[in-house]
Amino acid sequence: MDKSDSRRLSVSLVDVHADRLDEFRTLATHVEAILIRKDYGRMEVIRDEALPLRFYAVRFWADAAAAERCHGDREVQALTAKLYQLSRVMHVVNGVRPAAALRLQLDDRRAHADADRRVGFDRRVRDVGRPEGDRRKGDRRLGPRRQRDSAGDVDLVGAARRARENADAAYSHFKVGAALETGDGVVVTGCNIENATYGLTICAERVAMFKALSDGHRVFSRIAIVADTESPTPPCGACRQILWEFGGNLEIELANLEESKGKHQLKNLLPLPFDARLL
Ligand code: THU
Repeated sequence: MDKSDSRRLSVSLVDVHADRLDEFRTLATHVEAILIRKDYGRMEVIRDEALPLRFYAVRFWADAAAAERCHGDREVQALTAKLYQLSRVMHVVNGVRPAAALRLQLDDRRAHADADRRVGFDRRVRDVGRPEGDRRKGDRRLGPRRQRDSAGDVDLVGAARRARENADAAYSHFKVGAALETGDGVVVTGCNIENATYGLTICAERVAMFKALSDGHRVFSRIAIVADTESPTPPCGACRQILWEFGGNLEIELANLEESKGKHQLKNLLPLPFDARLL
């Protein structure tokens, strides 16, 4: 596949009708989830800092064919029809590579931001993380950062399993591994690290997220969490809050050492979240 295809994106300017904001949020979250679930790509909805009813819907397509499949998808078409009832939509960029104009638009948005409002519709979008992720030269324990399985996806569960081997769970003996995928397809891993005081223990998910943030990553799509148990290990409450704040409605895959135990959307694991929009 032409490499340029992997960087296709579309941008729409969406002016939401005043009394339809909640419906729009729900609809956008829904579309975001579909794009990820059906491997079309992903969508970021950015709120204009100056115009509270204006949003920029940026869709990063997996490739040109994925964009086409998405446009022909009945489920997406039904949601698009609903979107037109809730708002006025103007297509700004259609399936082209990131343009300087978009970068300027995003920079402009950041210039307006008085603080980082990271969640959901107003997440930060700049990702200056290293493309090689957290791989260290000479250290193969965590494996390569960009691992793809036969379907062309990053093998996030595999990365989480390897990260789990580094867990320091001297007190609980419950080892957990996590692998977080950034918007650029970089994988950043984490494992739980316990402490003699118990309370200073930190979970695998938060280690992965803090490592990623510290490397400059700001856009995330998925996280895999692995433990050696029959029933899946979902993220604890503290991790859900951190993942939501910095990653928004992530896809969460739970797995053990043998198999996947299912995928979830973070919004379903953290209903009625507290976040920056409420401050
Ligand atoms: N733990 C995680 O790392 N992630 C989870 O999702 C659940 C719990 C860790 C924390 C602690 O080190 C051990 O598992 C037992 O709670």
